[in-house]
Amino acid sequence: MQFKYWKRWMPGSQVCFMGILLLGLVLPGPVWAKHEKGHDEVSGICPQPRKTVTAPEEYLKLKNPLEATPQNILAGKTLFQVDAKPSACRICHGISGDGLGIIFHQVKPKPRNFTCIHTMDDLPDGQLFWIIKNGSPGTAMPSFGYLADDQVWQLILYLRSFSKKE
Ligand code: HEC
Repeated sequence: MQFKYWKRWMPGSQVCFMGILLLGLVLPGPVWAKHEKGHDEVSGICPQPRKTVTAPEEYLKLKNPLEATPQNILAGKTLFQVDAKPSACRICHGISGDGLGIIFHQVKPKPRNFTCIHTMDDLPDGQLFWIIKNGSPGTAMPSFGYLADDQVWQLILYLRSFSKKE
């Protein structure tokens, strides 16, 4: 008696299960696909389109005065991953520097992808220095003008390490 009851109930539950699957997973598919396509700009791609303002001539000539010692790179890493204010670079540029930080979806234009050799090789040290000091107005990139010059150079040593060819 109990078994008969269960058997009668079973086909219905299968239909119900398929229904939930269809409604929950299959139907929203195109909606998700459209949403993804809606991001006309993608982080993490390489080369990355870049409209950032060019630094004044005297900055473009600057070379990093610090050597890429483990100590200097570690100092840059600490600022990038944890200490920089108003917010650690990692939040936007990502733990591995690929531009996929936890808030990358919310910002436009997208944070720079430092792992992209094609983009980074064309950027002089002085350009990076100037943007870190002053920010990129009209974008999410804040100014870190409070940092000492040496701290900015240490950050740049760390940024460069993301696109080092091994
Ligand atoms: C709130 C998000 C955010 C944070 C935090 C952030 N950045 Fe950025 N950063 C951006 C965005 C967005 C861009 C792209 C700006 C543009 O396209 O002009 C960018 C661009 C850059 C560039 C590229 C400059 C160029 O000329 O292409 C450098 C270098 C940079 N950031 C360094 C840093 C460093 C170092 C830190 C931490 C000390 C940091 N950023 C923190 C969002 C952020």
